[in-house]
Amino acid sequence: METVVVSLGGSVLIPGENDSDYLLALAKEVRALCKDRQVFLVCGGGKVARYYITQGREMGAPVPQLDEMGIMVTRINARLLQLALGDAAIEGIPTTPQEAKKMAKPGHVVVMGGTVPGHTTDAVSAMLAEETKAARIVNATSVDAAFTADPRKHPEAKRLKHISFQELYDLVNKGAHGAGPSDVFDRLGADIAMSNRIPIYIVNGRNLKELRLAIEGKEVQGTYVGD
Ligand code: UTP
Repeated sequence: METVVVSLGGSVLIPGENDSDYLLALAKEVRALCKDRQVFLVCGGGKVARYYITQGREMGAPVPQLDEMGIMVTRINARLLQLALGDAAIEGIPTTPQEAKKMAKPGHVVVMGGTVPGHTTDAVSAMLAEETKAARIVNATSVDAAFTADPRKHPEAKRLKHISFQELYDLVNKGAHGAGPSDVFDRLGADIAMSNRIPIYIVNGRNLKELRLAIEGKEVQGTYVGD
């Protein structure tokens, strides 16, 4: 059975726009999709994490402790998604990719957040995909696709349909794309995916049809990163 790791950005999970309705609709999709494949969901922290990190930074708290607060928020989001999934969610929130792999059970979903300070949940998704030899990573984000430049500032920016790992790497290192590095894919995550040749689908996570196609490994309107 193939494995798919989905990185769900906080901007998708809890933007403050009918979030509970969205989470229930997402859970319904995932419950159907996890029958034929092992699905892992990695939750981001979103604006709630940023809020705590900003306040802590203003107080002069050390960065690793700011990261710890970010991780706590990613885990609250993971817990909320587990509640939406009901008995399809495996009990507990793993704290490492290895633990997540061990917890996997056919027909059920492992949900987690961050692991340790120093990276983002995109990187965690890539580490988990490496650990589980996943067929693909789906980055469920708040933008529709990766672009050659920020389309809000550059109307001539082109939407990218299919790019190579190297092109993604150049894009995230240049910072010239959609709407900020974290919206496309994190640098470390891109590096890990590239070293392991794990394709990445970048889709708008609030578009559940797109998200389903990406999890199934079908053609999407978003961006496919791979060979
Ligand atoms: P996110 O993965 O949501 O970070 O984790 P992000 O990409 O910066 O957020 P978006 O995509 O813009 O919404 C939130 C924060 O939690 C800490 C980091 O500080 C991160 O910025 N974190 C998360 C870790 O330190 N380790 C982890 O494994 C995960």
